[in-house]
Amino acid sequence: MRQTLLLAACGFAASMSGFASSTYSRDIQPIIAMHCVGCHQPGAIAPMAFLSYQETRPWGRAIRQAVLQRSMPPWHAEPNPAHEFRNNRALSEGEIRTLAEWVEAGCPEGSPSAPLKPAAVAGGWKLGKPDVVVEVPGFSIPATGLLPYSFLIVPLHLEHDTWIRAAEFQIDQAASVHHMNAYVRPAGSSFLAGEPANRIFSPTVAERGRRREGERVFDRRQMLLGYEPGYQPMAWLPDGGKLLPAGSDLVFEMHYSPSGKAAVDHSKLALYFAPAPPKYRVLAIDTLRDLDLNIPPGDAQYVSNTSFTLGSAVELLSVQPHMHRRGASMDVQAILPDGHVEPLVRVPRYDFNWQTTYVYREPLQLPAGTKLESRATFDNSANNKSNPDPQATVRWGDQTIDEMHIAFLELVLDARADPEKVLVAKPRMIGQGSGQSRR
Ligand code: HEC
Repeated sequence: MRQTLLLAACGFAASMSGFASSTYSRDIQPIIAMHCVGCHQPGAIAPMAFLSYQETRPWGRAIRQAVLQRSMPPWHAEPNPAHEFRNNRALSEGEIRTLAEWVEAGCPEGSPSAPLKPAAVAGGWKLGKPDVVVEVPGFSIPATGLLPYSFLIVPLHLEHDTWIRAAEFQIDQAASVHHMNAYVRPAGSSFLAGEPANRIFSPTVAERGRRREGERVFDRRQMLLGYEPGYQPMAWLPDGGKLLPAGSDLVFEMHYSPSGKAAVDHSKLALYFAPAPPKYRVLAIDTLRDLDLNIPPGDAQYVSNTSFTLGSAVELLSVQPHMHRRGASMDVQAILPDGHVEPLVRVPRYDFNWQTTYVYREPLQLPAGTKLESRATFDNSANNKSNPDPQATVRWGDQTIDEMHIAFLELVLDARADPEKVLVAKPRMIGQGSGQSRR
C-alpha cells in the first residue's frame, strides 16, 4: 500500500532521463525552507507540514502541479519590474523548474538531511516579544447567520504621544473572521463618541459614520492595522512608525462571518514601541474606493473605476486590493502631474482568500497632484464559483454577499508633516449620498 502511495506521489514513467537530477537534501529543502515552511509547519495556516523529506515526499505530485500552475506559494500580483515587492512570495522560473523536475525524477532524497526547524516565535508573535498586547475579551460567534460589524474601544491611557514601529494581529478563530481592523481614536474624536469602553457593541452604519462638522479626517481616526485572510505580519519601515497621540484609544472593528461551527474568539493585537521618534510617519488610508457599485445580476464583466488626487508629496509604501467574492481583478496606477503613468499593482485574478498587502521594496515617490486610480472588475455570473448569488443586484455593503472596491494605501510622510494635507477633499463617508450623479 505504502509503495503504491509513494509511486503515485512522485515520478512520471516518461521522464526517465540520464541527467543527474536534483535531490531533496541539496536542492529542494532550501527552496521549501525559503518559500513554503512559513505556512507549511505545525500550527501555521497550511493543513500539512513540509519540514522533512518524509513529510514532503507524499505531496510530490501536488507540489509539482501547484507550482506549475502558480497556485502555490499564494501570490496574485503580476511582477512589476520597475518596483519590486518586498514580500514577494512567488518562485523564480528556475525554482519552479527545479521542483517540477525533482518530482518527475521520482523525488530522490540524496544523502539524508535533518528536518527543518521552524524559527522559534515568542508566544506565536512573528515580530518578536510585544511591548503591549490587547485582547478581544471573548466574542461568541454563532455557527450561522450574518453578523453586523462589532466594535471594541480600549483606552490606552498614554500620557505622551507614543510612536510604534510595528503592530501584529494574532487571530484566534481565523475560519470565522472576515476582517479585523484596529484604529487609533485621538482624544476628542467624534468616532463612536459616547459609546462605552471595554465592551463589544454593534452600532448601525449611520452611527459608525457619524462625525463632527469640520472635524479633520485624521483627528477623527487613523487606521493602525488591518487583518484579512492572507495577512502577513510585517514591520513598516526601518525608520518609520505610526503615532498614538496622548490620550488616544484603540478601536477594534471586527467582522465575523460564521463558518458553520460556533466558536469564541480571543484574537489579540500586539504593539511594538519605537525606541525613538522615527523620521517617517506611515499613514494608512482607505479612500481610494468606489461606494457607487451597482452590479447587475449575471454581469460577468462589471467595471468600477475610482480615483483621488494627492494634496501633498508622499511616498507609497504598500497597496492592498480589497473586494469580496465577486471581485475578479484590480489594477492600481498613478498618473503623475507630468502625465506619466506609473503602474502600481495589477492583480489579474483576485482571490478573496488571499488579500495580500503588496509592499514595495523601495517606497515610490509621488509628487503633490498625483492622481491615484483603481480599476476593478467583478464577475456576478453563475460561472464564478465563489459567487453567493448571481441573481442579485450587488451594491457596496459590509457583508461578503455585498461588494466593495477599495485599494488600501500606506503612505510615508515626514514624521512632522500634517497628514491632513494629503487629502485634497474630505472623502465621502459610507452611507452618505454622492452629491454627484451616479454612473
Ligand atoms: C502564505 C502561506 C503559504 C505558503 C508560503 C505556501 N503555502 Fe501551500 N498552502 C497554503 C494553504 C493555506 C493551503 C491550503 C489551502 C489552499 O489550498 O489554498 C496550501 C496548500 C498547498 C498544497 C495543496 C493544495 C494544492 O494546491 O494542491 C500544496 C501542494 C502546497 N500548498 C504546496 C506549497 C509549496 C510547494 C509551497 C512553497 C513553494 C507553498 N505551498 C507555500 C499556504 C501556503
